[in-house]
Amino acid sequence: MKILIDDANVDKIKALYDYYPIDGVTTNPSILTKSGRKPYDVLCEIREFIGPNAQLHAQVISPKAEDMVKEGHKIVEMLGKNTFVKIPAVPEGIKAMRLLSQEGFGVTATAIYTPMQAFWSAKAGADYAAPYVNRIDNLGADGVAAAKKMHDIFKNCGFKTEILAASFKNSQQVQELCEYGVGAATLAPDTIENFLKNACVTSAVDVFISDFENSYGKGATMLNY
Ligand code: E4P
Repeated sequence: MKILIDDANVDKIKALYDYYPIDGVTTNPSILTKSGRKPYDVLCEIREFIGPNAQLHAQVISPKAEDMVKEGHKIVEMLGKNTFVKIPAVPEGIKAMRLLSQEGFGVTATAIYTPMQAFWSAKAGADYAAPYVNRIDNLGADGVAAAKKMHDIFKNCGFKTEILAASFKNSQQVQELCEYGVGAATLAPDTIENFLKNACVTSAVDVFISDFENSYGKGATMLNY
């Protein structure tokens, strides 16, 4: 299962890459706006940092399919290989997905709230479909269950499309999709950091250190022996 960072803050991306095995970065127009920088300035800096082998997902803005296709061409021209063009799963978007995937571009269907949006995206040739798990929960529905259903549709219908689950509020939502074996999840930096924040774990590790130091001296480690 691939894990991507859903953010455009380069310092945060660098800090997370330092600790965690990360497969790439996703952005959306709102995330890019929050960076306070010009879109390609920040996206090119992210690409330079993550390298050509990591995935970078960037979204089109145009409402019409033909213009989405043009934006897709420009996005990939600017950001290079392993760049996925994110396209909303609306009728114009489905058309753009079909055209771009026929040309061999990587495509991520986004703004997915329902299994049938995922189905049409897959039929249009999308590589990934991004269900908005927490936003679905906020509608009073079950975001994790919806994402699982989309995963099942892809497998049962023989589509190559994978789930790129997005919009999470907590670790439990992510864990359930890990258990289910979905293809990928994109997570905000604080969601990633929260997985391993656990007072019991911290306390257990502290006791190991203090037991060792009480016997062998302050600051002693296995390097001293
Ligand atoms: C990813 O494709 C989405 O743009 C993003 O994860 C949405 O997350 P949010 O619901 O936290 O804004």
